[in-house]
Amino acid sequence: MTSTPGFPALTVSNCALLSQRGGVRLERGCWQGRDVFVKTLDTADPDIRQRFEHEGEVARRLSHPGIVPLLTRSSERLVFPWVAGCSLRERLEHGPLSPYAALEVTLGVLAAMQAFHEAGVVHHDLKPENVMLLGGRSCAGCVRVTDFGMAHDRTLSSDLHQGTRMGTPQFMPPEQFQGVRGDPRSDVYAVGALLFDCLAGEPPHPDALGWLVGLSSVRLPLPGPAALHPLLESALERDPQRRPPSARALLRALEEVRRRLPPEPPAIPGTVPA
Ligand SMILES: Nc1ncnc2c1ncn2[C@@H]1O[C@H](COP(=O)(O)OP(=O)(O)O)[C@@H](O)[C@H]1O
Ligand SMILES: [Mg+2]
Repeated sequence: MTSTPGFPALTVSNCALLSQRGGVRLERGCWQGRDVFVKTLDTADPDIRQRFEHEGEVARRLSHPGIVPLLTRSSERLVFPWVAGCSLRERLEHGPLSPYAALEVTLGVLAAMQAFHEAGVVHHDLKPENVMLLGGRSCAGCVRVTDFGMAHDRTLSSDLHQGTRMGTPQFMPPEQFQGVRGDPRSDVYAVGALLFDCLAGEPPHPDALGWLVGLSSVRLPLPGPAALHPLLESALERDPQRRPPSARALLRALEEVRRRLPPEPPAIPGTVPA
């Protein structure tokens, strides 16, 4: 039982530890009869506590079918519904997606992204690990974006990550590496890298840090149908001004490409679904 001023008592039962890192335990448990995913603060470090509280503040404002909602919280816990399925990263461990499935997943991420951008939030850590697939299925309606631990929220007075280089190099745009915060086009870049990863089975830059600091310009050949290449290319531009300006713009353009793609061949029973 946890009861803290400002927060109601919060009881999570049957907690099973999944992993533990950076002063936070990830657990599966049961809250009010629901299967839940719980992040529990496990350190007295004030910086980690502040970041943890910031994540809760951002997540509590967001509501969209493509975003894992915050169900409840205490000062030590963030409680989310358990998403039965797998992360996009786990899915990609079985190999790349078909072009149609890759587009579906990306469109699902973009629909969620449009919603949080309109709410004033930039995620800053979009990558396959932070995209859940309900039922393990690669369709737009099964996408659940999670982990707003590095997000910038323009409605909150403080930006804890200001001036930091936090993020994952393979999915991080160069300006984010330089410390630029809150530009929605940074997420557009990350989604470009995510789509690339879905199609190729690996992200675009083999030397991601070299690319970020401007020492390497090597990018793997553009994967997937040629109709997608101009969009991939523009989403991954080093200069944010040359990228699609918003989630909505990229979503519309990708929908147009999807309409022109040939239909998917039927799935073969017993194989990994796309
Ligand atoms: N609601 C959820 N249901 C089931 N698994 C989840 C859920 N949220 C996250 N996960 C899994 O836990 C992992 C870590 O969660 P995340 O919120 O990204 O924490 P971290 O801040 O440690 O990256 C994710 O990559 C995903 O595999
Ligand atoms: Mg994460």
